[in-house]
Amino acid sequence: MSDKPWDGRFSQKTDKIVEAFTSSIMVDKRLYAHDIEGSIAHSRMLANVSIITGEEASLIEKGLLKIEKDIESGKFEYDDSLEDIHMHIESRLAKDIGKVALKLHTARSRNDQVALDVRMYLRDEVNKIISGLIELRKVIIDLCAKNTDTIMPGYTHLQKAQPVLFSHHLMAYYEMFLRDTERMRDCFKRINVMPLGSAALAGTTYPIDRNYTAKLLGFPKVTANSMDSVADRDFIIEFISSAAICMVHFSRFSEDLIIWSSYEFGFIELPDAFATGSSIMPQKKNPDVCELVRGKSGRIFGDLISMLTIMKSLPLSYNRDMQEDKIAMFDAVDTLTACIEVYTRMLPELKINKEVMLKASSSGFLNATDLADYLTIKGMPFREAHSCAGKAVAFALKKGKELHELSLDEIKTFSNLFSDDVFEVLTPASMINRRKSSGGTATGNVLAAIKKAKKDIAKEA
Ligand code: ARG
Repeated sequence: MSDKPWDGRFSQKTDKIVEAFTSSIMVDKRLYAHDIEGSIAHSRMLANVSIITGEEASLIEKGLLKIEKDIESGKFEYDDSLEDIHMHIESRLAKDIGKVALKLHTARSRNDQVALDVRMYLRDEVNKIISGLIELRKVIIDLCAKNTDTIMPGYTHLQKAQPVLFSHHLMAYYEMFLRDTERMRDCFKRINVMPLGSAALAGTTYPIDRNYTAKLLGFPKVTANSMDSVADRDFIIEFISSAAICMVHFSRFSEDLIIWSSYEFGFIELPDAFATGSSIMPQKKNPDVCELVRGKSGRIFGDLISMLTIMKSLPLSYNRDMQEDKIAMFDAVDTLTACIEVYTRMLPELKINKEVMLKASSSGFLNATDLADYLTIKGMPFREAHSCAGKAVAFALKKGKELHELSLDEIKTFSNLFSDDVFEVLTPASMINRRKSSGGTATGNVLAAIKKAKKDIAKEA
């Protein structure tokens, strides 16, 4: 017979194919440190309420710490017949310290144990992700601070619309990553609840002290319902949703950088260290890092759909389907972490082609709105002014000129409200600096936004 913890009830050995199929060790071995930390807290709690002796608890603790060392030094052996990290550690503990190891699982089930482990793991990772997002936002602020006079065309429908400050465009991403940070902080609150002591599903007959375990593990509170405790993976779904939204931002940012670095735009140049060449075309410098970040967003959306689908029809409480949660969770953590890291490293190295951007802002009729606004200020109703400016655009197009290249006489043919002060209004800098409405691109606004972001982030870090 095998030495499975449930073998009392079984008369047949588990089929090898089933062992391989049900095993999750190659995935969940990543949880070893949290599993050990959780087990140590559990055994201390058991001793504290006299379910085991203090001596037994310290034997268990020493044994677990030795296993942790062995895992870290690569000495630990994994075997499908032991299914998961929880059983691996428990079985090894029994080999190392004998019978007393068998007391560790008192008042505990793998169902609440795994719930604890993933919460502890995710809590650590979300904290790292929050720090990573703060670093990324700092890098964005620095890039903005260096570009408070860099003018670029702003786009809608990927058609030139109105000039904006490059730093205003970048601060839009700052806002997105700020919301991502907030979302991570918010989901952290629901990760940070201690499920152990719920046992298999109904709680336990032993006089355990769940709050004591929670305190040892730094959880501010314990879960309220034992069935929910072992059945709940909302906190993983919430994390991956937040990660997915964050990846939407990374993907859009990537798309902007890819477009801007194209030969046709030439607004920026990606650092050589963050681009790749082509094996056949010598002239190529490809934005592969940005493309991969954009592509990896698809991976995380997939993780989210996996989690939602795994959970959606499960009857309460624990079901083995839930073992699949870790694949999606680890992938989302790894992918998001890597994207944050690579962007934080790459952004400071971007070469910004200020002249090219300014030149691009001076053609393509980005000042047509301002021509209409000029007339509105002089008393013409906006709709009429819009049509008047439209006619001027059509005329200039025919002449192969920009609006600001028309002569005063030519412009006056569209309205006699025009006088020579119109040309000043049509320059990119003037267009930007007159957009003083709250949240608009005027230099003063952008400087204030950068200043505020710097102040806020100093409080966060
Ligand atoms: N490896 C399992 C998981 O990740 C641990 C819990 C197993 N519980 C059980 N009763 N089979 O979900």
